[in-house]
Amino acid sequence: MSNRKPVMAGNWKMFKTGSEAAALLRDLRPKISMIHDVEIVVCPPFTSLAAAAQAISGSNIALGGQNLHWEVSGAFTGEVSAQMLDEAGCRWVIIGHSERRQLFGETDETVHKKILAALRQGLTPIACCGETLAEREANRTLEVVGRQIQGALGALNAGQVKSLVVAYEPVWAIGTGKVATPAQAQEVHAAIRAQVGKLHGSEVAEGLRILYGGSVKPDNIKDLMAQADLDGALVGGASLQAESFAAIVRYRG
Ligand code: PGA
Repeated sequence: MSNRKPVMAGNWKMFKTGSEAAALLRDLRPKISMIHDVEIVVCPPFTSLAAAAQAISGSNIALGGQNLHWEVSGAFTGEVSAQMLDEAGCRWVIIGHSERRQLFGETDETVHKKILAALRQGLTPIACCGETLAEREANRTLEVVGRQIQGALGALNAGQVKSLVVAYEPVWAIGTGKVATPAQAQEVHAAIRAQVGKLHGSEVAEGLRILYGGSVKPDNIKDLMAQADLDGALVGGASLQAESFAAIVRYRG
């Protein structure tokens, strides 16, 4: 067992209005209030952050954004800065999710800038990486993920890498019900840790929390968490219901 405190983060994507977010969190709170050995994070849409912040006040649940812009402020219609997330009550932010990369043109370079902006504001980035099905079938998984990790973390210093977490999310497993096998996840997680070790030293690598994401459910979380290099999960669909997200947070039983 590692000393790394697990993180269970809910990525709500474009689901839950403010009132729906508050209702879900009211339902979730008592189901997980006894859990202190797992960091619990929910990432609602921007417009639901205020309602969510109020609903989690005084609880063991932390708030995260799903994206940010790297500039502090400016003429960037439709964008939100790290400072805005901070003031809205966020302590975390998802960066470079595959849906952002595939649908909204994010690149390794913008992901890197966004990570820096989050760190400057004291937010904990959840830096996402993961291969497509075609890349996996072409045996390019480790090369693709390696490039993404290099792009996201390569130019950071050790202290900065200590202040973030990585999420490995194979694109073919997101929202498809096709979870990676624990062995498939472990292989990539171990490769990421080894790469971070080369980039930033073994102490940083050993402390880095690497989350798995992609069809995580109550019935597969335990086997995933049994893997040596798996330190939590980034949960989409199953985080939208209190019962299933609570069961994932309480994976130890
Ligand atoms: P999923 O989504 O759990 O619905 O597969 C995970 C994610 O996209 O972060």
